[in-house]
Amino acid sequence: MRAVTISEPGGPEVLEWAEVPDPVCGPGEVVVDVAATAVNRADLLQRQGFYPPPPGGSDILGLECSGLISEVGEGVTGWSVGDEVCALLSGGGYAERVAVPAGQLLPRPSGVELATAAALPEVTCTVWSNVFLLAGLRRGDSFLVHGGSSGIGTMAIQLAARAGARVFTTAGTAQKLDACRELGAEVAINYREEDFVERIREETDGAGVDVVLDNMGAKYLGRNVEVLATGGRLVSIGFQGGTKGELDLGALMRKRGSVAATSLRFRPATGPGGKAEIVAAVLHDVWPDVERGVVRPIVDRRLPMSRAAEAHSVLEASEHIGKVLLLTDS
Ligand SMILES: NC(=O)c1ccc[n+]([C@@H]2O[C@H](COP(=O)([O-])OP(=O)(O)OC[C@H]3O[C@@H](n4cnc5c(N)ncnc54)[C@H](OP(=O)(O)O)[C@@H]3O)[C@@H](O)[C@H]2O)c1
Repeated sequence: MRAVTISEPGGPEVLEWAEVPDPVCGPGEVVVDVAATAVNRADLLQRQGFYPPPPGGSDILGLECSGLISEVGEGVTGWSVGDEVCALLSGGGYAERVAVPAGQLLPRPSGVELATAAALPEVTCTVWSNVFLLAGLRRGDSFLVHGGSSGIGTMAIQLAARAGARVFTTAGTAQKLDACRELGAEVAINYREEDFVERIREETDGAGVDVVLDNMGAKYLGRNVEVLATGGRLVSIGFQGGTKGELDLGALMRKRGSVAATSLRFRPATGPGGKAEIVAAVLHDVWPDVERGVVRPIVDRRLPMSRAAEAHSVLEASEHIGKVLLLTDS
């Protein structure tokens, strides 16, 4: 098969569409003939040599895909050759074929075209596991997601608004702020022009927000704690602003707040807190609203896999709103 390979750690130009061995379908796995994958920010780090796959994982990029099942491994029940699916992966999505543990498959939602379904697994699983299962966002809560126009942000806004939370977000341009409002954000703050802590305090009569989903890590740690309401929960899923920051435990204690940091990719495939458990929760709690069109995959553009380098440049320049898809057949 063909896959996007990395000739050496570096810029987007090191990505090559090349021949590689086919994946082997292990017990408990299926092979998916890939229709599309989606680019995640983590892919840029892996390309640069900073984010190696978990032990035993494919060294091909790609944390999600959609496509048709072409092989069903020993012990797999409930899935058949020809089924249209999308899947959460630990790697391997930038390829014509990928082997996936069956617990990480989701059926293509009705009403969502097969290639577009590749935009869903990583964002739905990340947002559901962190904002709802971990931080327990509820109706009437207030919620801040940074980078509201990102792949993650566009899904977080929709899921939080659907749950009846009051949604605040940050983004870097007027066009992105508009997109966030259209998706359900009540207050969208330009992080280049305004201090989000001050603005949210004004908007909440000084109370702050119940849950923060953070992508910036160290750079925003202090301000994210400042903006938490009493009993607030900060969940950090990205470190675009560095990994090592100073945490004011006194401030956190006074608020009875909590801080967590999680990674979806490094969760085990099965068992408590594993990927299969999250995928099952997403199928139960999110998929029905995707099928009703209440929650939508937001796709910025579609490119052929052979142009993966261009897709990475788009993400690096943050030109996109939502997800960038890479398709095998164009
Ligand atoms: N831990 C996990 O399991 C997990 C899983 C998936 C994703 N993630 C993380 O979630 C984040 C989003 O991922 P993605 O793939 O959706 O990325 P993405 O689409 O590339 O988005 C990155 C976002 O960062 C925003 N940003 C940059 N500087 C900012 C600042 N100073 N303040 C606020 N926002 C800022 C950008 O906003 P502008 O374009 O407006 O500048 C953009 O929306 C990444 O950090 C990624 O690593 C983590």
